[in-house]
Amino acid sequence: MRPYQLLRPLIFALDAETAHRATIAALKAMPIRRPPDFPNALRVRLAGVDFPSPVGLAAGFDKDAEVVDAMLGLGFGFVEVGTVTPRPQPGNPRPRLFRLAEDQAVINRMGFNNRGQPAAFARLQRCRRLGPVGANVGANKDSTDRIADYVSGVRSMASVADYLTINISSPNTPGLRALQDAGELEALLSAVGNARGEGGPPVFLKVAPDLGKGDADRIVRAAIDHRVDALIVANTTVARPPLKSRFGGESGGLSGKPLKPLALAALRDFRSAAGGEIPLVGVGGIATADDAWERIRAGASLVQLYSAMVYDGPGIARRIAVGLADRLEREGFADIAEAVGSG
Ligand SMILES: Cc1cc2nc3c(=O)[nH]c(=O)nc-3n(C[C@H](O)[C@H](O)[C@H](O)COP(=O)(O)O)c2cc1C
Repeated sequence: MRPYQLLRPLIFALDAETAHRATIAALKAMPIRRPPDFPNALRVRLAGVDFPSPVGLAAGFDKDAEVVDAMLGLGFGFVEVGTVTPRPQPGNPRPRLFRLAEDQAVINRMGFNNRGQPAAFARLQRCRRLGPVGANVGANKDSTDRIADYVSGVRSMASVADYLTINISSPNTPGLRALQDAGELEALLSAVGNARGEGGPPVFLKVAPDLGKGDADRIVRAAIDHRVDALIVANTTVARPPLKSRFGGESGGLSGKPLKPLALAALRDFRSAAGGEIPLVGVGGIATADDAWERIRAGASLVQLYSAMVYDGPGIARRIAVGLADRLEREGFADIAEAVGSG
C-alpha cells in the first residue's frame, strides 16, 4: 500500500479546502527532495524550454507559489503556479471546493483567490526552481480593464517564470471566458504581444473545453498570428455529464475523470485545427500513464494534471512518467516528440 492511501481517509475527513491548506502546509514543512533523474527519452524541448518530463502540475494547486520545489522534488516535470492576479483577492465565499469521490472528480468555484502577483513574484525569486516553472496570470474580479491586468501579469512575472500562461478560461470570474471571443481575443493577444517584448519567456494560452463549432480554428489562427507559443487544452468544464456524487449540482468548474472525454475531444479539435503548427499541452482528467499517452498520441507535447492527485497522491506524476518511458520503448519511439500526434 502506498503512503498516500494510508493518509487519504484522514485527508478526506476534512472538507476539501481545509485538506488542501493542510497539504500545502505539510509540503512546506517537508525537506525538499532532489527531482528524480528522468530517462532522456522523456525530455521535451518546447518554445526553448527544456522539460525533463512531460508530466506537469496544472495551475490552481499552488496558486501562490508556496511549494514549487517540493512538487518538482516529488516528480512533477514542471509546475504551473497561479492563477495570480495583479492585486490580492479573497475569491468566492466558502464552500467553494467540492470532492466528488464517487466520480473521481472535483468541482471548484474558487474565483482566483490569491495573494497577488507581487507576493508570488517574491516567492518565486526565493525558491530554487529545481525545474521549469510556469506563471499563470489572470484578471482581478473587480478590474475595470481586464486586458491591462494580463499586461501587468506578463510584465511582473516574466523575470521569474520559464513560461507564462494567459488564463482566459476560468468559469469562476464572471465574463472572463468572453475574452476567448473573436474581437476580445485579438485585442488581448495584441496587448500581450506588445508587453512581452523580445527576450522574455514564451507565452501559452489556456482555453476552455466548452467551445463551439469553429472556435478551435479561430483561436488557433489568432494564437499563431500573435506569436503565442503553445495552447493549454483545457480548463475545467461548466458542462455536467452524469455524476453520482451529491455535490454534482454545485456550480463551478468540473475537473477529474468526467472531464477526460471532453478534454480529449477538445485537444483533438485543436490538433486538427493546428495541424502541428502550434504546440499543445493536454490537461483534463489525466490519471494514468495510458491517459497521458493517449493525450500525447492525440497531439499534446506536454500534459498536466491536478484532480487525479487528490485521489492518488503526489507520487502520481512520477508513476505516469515511468509508464510513459515504458510505452515509448514498447512502441519503438525514440522520444516524446516522435510520439506527439502519432495516434
Ligand atoms: C481546485 C482547483 C483550482 C483551479 N484553479 C485554477 C486556476 O487558478 N487557474 C487555472 O488556469 N486553472 C485552474 N484549475 C484548472 C486546472 O489547472 C485544470 O485545467 C483542470 O482541473 C483539469 O485538470 P484535472 O482534471 O487534472 O484537474 C483549477 C482546478 C481545480 C480543481
